[in-house]
Amino acid sequence: SYNGLALTPPMGWNDWSYYQCNISQQLILAQAKALVTSGLAKKGYDTVTVDDCWLAPTRSSNGTLQASPTLFPKGMAWLGKQIHALGLKFGLYEDAGTQTCGGYPGVWGHEKQDADTFASWGVDYVKLDGCNVPVASGQSALAVYQKEYQTFSADLVATGRKIVFSDSMPAYFQGTSDWQSSISDASKVANLWREGADTALGQESGDAKWDAIDYNYSYNVGLGKYAGPGHWNDPDFLLTGDSGLSTTEMQSQMSLWAEMSAPLISSTDLTKLTPQALAILGNKRIIAVDQDSLGVQGHIVQRGKNYNVLTKPLAGGDASVVLFNSGNTSQTISTTALTAGLKGAGPFTLTDLVSGHQTATNGQISAVVPAHGTVMYRVHRGTTGKLASAVSMAF
Ligand code: GLA
Repeated sequence: SYNGLALTPPMGWNDWSYYQCNISQQLILAQAKALVTSGLAKKGYDTVTVDDCWLAPTRSSNGTLQASPTLFPKGMAWLGKQIHALGLKFGLYEDAGTQTCGGYPGVWGHEKQDADTFASWGVDYVKLDGCNVPVASGQSALAVYQKEYQTFSADLVATGRKIVFSDSMPAYFQGTSDWQSSISDASKVANLWREGADTALGQESGDAKWDAIDYNYSYNVGLGKYAGPGHWNDPDFLLTGDSGLSTTEMQSQMSLWAEMSAPLISSTDLTKLTPQALAILGNKRIIAVDQDSLGVQGHIVQRGKNYNVLTKPLAGGDASVVLFNSGNTSQTISTTALTAGLKGAGPFTLTDLVSGHQTATNGQISAVVPAHGTVMYRVHRGTTGKLASAVSMAF
């Protein structure tokens, strides 16, 4: 990638969707600790990002960004040190415009100074939002945004510190004819980019969370050509752990995000995870699909009424297959190893990535999938261990 970073999709935690501006240095550190004690950090969730509202309303007299004296009285360098002491990486939000979406000072006109400030604070990851970018009449919005994000990206590289760059520009072009160009541009100057709507907030109830997951999936799934080692599509936060989602729905988001090689960034209260939510976020087999070294984003190979079948090629020749039922009633979804990209004769081993249970097949892949549910298999050519004898009996 342009900076050699994020060769697999970034993983971590961000406060925004659950807490919005109700943050503080104590809260961030409590969540960082929970990332470690829950065991999630060891599984790869290693970056703690402070989103909007961490800033003081004004810059200091020499123009330096400063932390809110009430929310972060010890400052961001101190916070970064605490996060690093937990073995984690430190992420920080800013905005490309004159003000952040929440109304705090943006980097516009201070790009180099702010990149240097971040480096001096030990920041390892920057999310640069796109509110309040001043586009004069007669100017192309795309050109203005492109120049600003390119500038900040280069300024981060010039600090000499390894800083992962999350670029929100494409989210500001969703629904316009410049959307694809904005994504293509982001893929050259950033490690990940938001390209669409926010997932629902922690406080939202009813169907909002599932609807947001389904919607973000639907626009992200077709963008695979932009993704690869070092540069990833970001369909926004994992909501696993929040109220308003069933266990089935939480599992579906995790499985679909992993299949799409999406960044796995949790935004929930990690100190209150149920055993089910922890098992979903911490599923090593599914994390391994997300973090697979080939870095190919999964894509749809078959569609039917209220269902999609996705496949993702994995290093070593396996494939990960997701049967996704977006409908409101359970249905049987069937496909084949051939459709999933595994040519030639079986037998194949199917590993159910939730239960770990293995079965043998000559190529047929089929499961009853509940409403809003997914069944996710790793498809391996041949058989191993105990399965070999079961297969020779079956075929
Ligand atoms: C935008 C972003 C969110 C969050 C907020 C902060 O809505 O998409 O992820 O960063 O701004 O104000």
